[in-house]
Amino acid sequence: MSSSASPQDAEQKVLFRITLPNLWEESLTWLIAEHGFGSAIGESSYPLGAVDTEIDAPGLETELRVLLELDQADAFRDALQLWMADLGVSAADWSFQEQQHGLEEHFQISDWQAQWKPFRCGHFVVHADFQPLEELPTKAGDIPLQLKTGSAFGTGTHPTTRLALKTLQKWCAGGPPPRLLDVGTGSGILAVAAALGGVREVIGMDPDPFSAVQANAMAEINGVSSQCNFWRGGFESAAGQWPAVLANLVADILQLGAGNLADLVAPGGNLFAGGILRRHWQTTAEAMAAQGLVLESCIGRGRWLAGIWTKA
Ligand SMILES: C[S@@+](CC[C@H](N)C(=O)[O-])C[C@H]1O[C@@H](n2cnc3c(N)ncnc32)[C@H](O)[C@@H]1O
Repeated sequence: MSSSASPQDAEQKVLFRITLPNLWEESLTWLIAEHGFGSAIGESSYPLGAVDTEIDAPGLETELRVLLELDQADAFRDALQLWMADLGVSAADWSFQEQQHGLEEHFQISDWQAQWKPFRCGHFVVHADFQPLEELPTKAGDIPLQLKTGSAFGTGTHPTTRLALKTLQKWCAGGPPPRLLDVGTGSGILAVAAALGGVREVIGMDPDPFSAVQANAMAEINGVSSQCNFWRGGFESAAGQWPAVLANLVADILQLGAGNLADLVAPGGNLFAGGILRRHWQTTAEAMAAQGLVLESCIGRGRWLAGIWTKA
């Protein structure tokens, strides 16, 4: 900001609206924070019609909104070009606009309930508890999955959660596993989706103090409480052997806990382990292999990878 800036200028911000292909916004949000634009507020949106198709289908876009101080704008504009090139998003597929406005106006824009849209992930149509299902354009065979709003991780828009939901859908399509363990359940989204997909017994745990409360409430509003059991704790508090285990965590916890996780998988069972940054894939895969787990497939989106392992 120039030295002649008035007190009102302190209230003035620059809002960047960046339009980019869906699901690249998570990687860009991370780069923005990593490069010191961390106090920026990002919001994504996509058309309501997206519920008819996958949110990462070609042609669907997200608008990411980033609020900056006036004197950050030049550096941000330059960095943005470099980041998008590094991410490999073609120049034809993204664009940005910037506009200056007051802080109060921004708070109106960031009313997240007004921005939040239901979306599709495979057969799951994810909608929030403040959005009536009757208003959603669902199709035959869809499984509505109602989110309980709260602070625990897992709304379904994060690439790692989506990779887990897609895997879960495949598992259920081939005849759902009878029992499933969801390690790091967060909001309970994966566990509740599993129960809705036909898994008869689902347990989930998470050290986050808000998780079990939120997950239980989510099971309740989706009508699957009798199939689900959640508690507060780490994966070392889980017992038994499970034909299907979801562990959408982060690479270092997966590596440290590889032995515990392998013990929790029944012979012939499957482990989904996600939340692995590409640069941590090799060491995580080695940690799983050291426990006798066999890699079946590796899937990814943006900077995130996940693996599906089986136990002989
Ligand atoms: C990436 S979030 C996943 C949430 C949700 N399952 C989803 O897929 O959206 C990872 C979760 O793992 C939890 N977590 C961290 N360490 C853990 C541990 N040792 N055992 C179990 N859960 C853990 C975190 O609190 C967080 O809620």
